[in-house]
Amino acid sequence: MTNLAVIGTQWGDEGKGKVVDLLAEGADMVVRFQGGNNAGHTLVVGGSTYALHLVPSGILHPEKTSVVASGVVVDPGVLIGEIKALTGRGVEISPRNLKISGKAHVILPYHKRLDEARESAAGAGKIGTTGRGIGPTYEDKAARVGLRLSDLLDPGLFGAKAKIALEEKNCLLTNLYGQKPIEISELLELAREWASFLSPYIVDTFEIIHNASKEGKNILFEGAQGVQLDIDHGTYPFVTSSNPTAGAVSVGSGLPPNELHKVMGLVKAYTSRVGEGPFPTELADETGQRIREIGGEYGTTTGRPRRCGWLDAVVVRTAVDLCGIESLAVTKLDVLRGLPEIKMATSYRLGGKSLAHVPGTLSGLAQAEPVYETFKGFDGDISAAKGLGDLPPEAKAFLDRLAEAVGARIGLVSVGPERDQTIVLDKPFGAPARAGA
Ligand code: GDP
Ligand code: IMO
Ligand code: MG
Repeated sequence: MTNLAVIGTQWGDEGKGKVVDLLAEGADMVVRFQGGNNAGHTLVVGGSTYALHLVPSGILHPEKTSVVASGVVVDPGVLIGEIKALTGRGVEISPRNLKISGKAHVILPYHKRLDEARESAAGAGKIGTTGRGIGPTYEDKAARVGLRLSDLLDPGLFGAKAKIALEEKNCLLTNLYGQKPIEISELLELAREWASFLSPYIVDTFEIIHNASKEGKNILFEGAQGVQLDIDHGTYPFVTSSNPTAGAVSVGSGLPPNELHKVMGLVKAYTSRVGEGPFPTELADETGQRIREIGGEYGTTTGRPRRCGWLDAVVVRTAVDLCGIESLAVTKLDVLRGLPEIKMATSYRLGGKSLAHVPGTLSGLAQAEPVYETFKGFDGDISAAKGLGDLPPEAKAFLDRLAEAVGARIGLVSVGPERDQTIVLDKPFGAPARAGA
């Protein structure tokens, strides 16, 4: 009855995995629609931790259908490794409950090599990518020289396409970056291995999603990354190569735009960023350090320490307005416990003007000054809070101001990594968003 997207409003790592796992209870299907294994979504269930990169975060609910749709870029080796590791831990995964689009593009060894080579050649100008080959794979998709998962099912076609692509990649690897070439035999061997494992999972996911929507099922779309990493709307060029904004749900899955009913924005109660690029509310001091340690802000994918800073409502408002977010899921509120005061930027000042949205140029962003509002800190353990009434008034005031500042209601508050450490205010799958939906 309801199709809902969960979108990261900041620079990723807002806790999308936790919230998707929780909301999946009420969904029939969970769909990844963009990004690749640059994503790291951590679920903590009953004391066990699962770090997912490509498998959708609904997978711990075996009766739900998990879908990797066409907008995702897939490193088959990573996907196979993830499926094997999960099944080894008792998670039920089979072609019955995991469907992978044949249209999804394949991350090949030369994509990773090019990603890494470019980053090291860029020196101080690097983006700080995850090194997973994401950018080069999306480039090839746009250049129409990419290989898709369906190509794995036709070895002759795969070989012919890979041979042409490899000629150009080897030219770059050897001449520009002084590296050894990649042999076609290596790719053909990998393709054989990947196809033998993955072929039962590879299907036309568009039709599966279309049928589910027409049958009135509840579909949950799981965003990866966050709005400020969007290639069009983020802090370009310090972004990823896909669109984590809500518009990509339609492009990346084939769901018609008017069948997406609700968008929930994930907001960490402070801000973090991995990699390079502007970050107006960054705290390069002890408070930033404290938030990183208490919040465990080390990358799920690369283990890199995440840069931390105050909550930036300008960033969140930009996401709300770009994605049509009506409801916010605020995570990691518990991490702010014990700070004497908490800040939130509610606007920027640039050239004597007040800005409500993130400026569209790097120079504008570098000069913009966050305008802070200061809140009294709160103490006491909130990690068992079950309702807003269980929160200290200071924490509640912070949430109320966020909702007011960005123009969206608080729909969920997360106070710890476990499923039951959540105050659920909105039941997104409870009622249709609009008549006839
Ligand atoms: P994602 O990429 O948006 O899915 O987020 P990550 O999984 O990369 O990072 C979020 C981290 O915070 C994970 O380790 C979660 O287990 C953890 N987490 C999620 N929600 C909460 C919360 O409310 N409080 C605390 N303390 N940790 C949380
Ligand atoms: P989840 O889904 C945080 C960042 C990288 C780098 C930039 C480009 O866990 O929120 P890429 O490898 O995509 O070309 O890197 O984007 N980045 C993320 N940061 N969370 C993520 O995913 C990210 N995925 C990519 O650190 O700055
Ligand atoms: Mg993450």
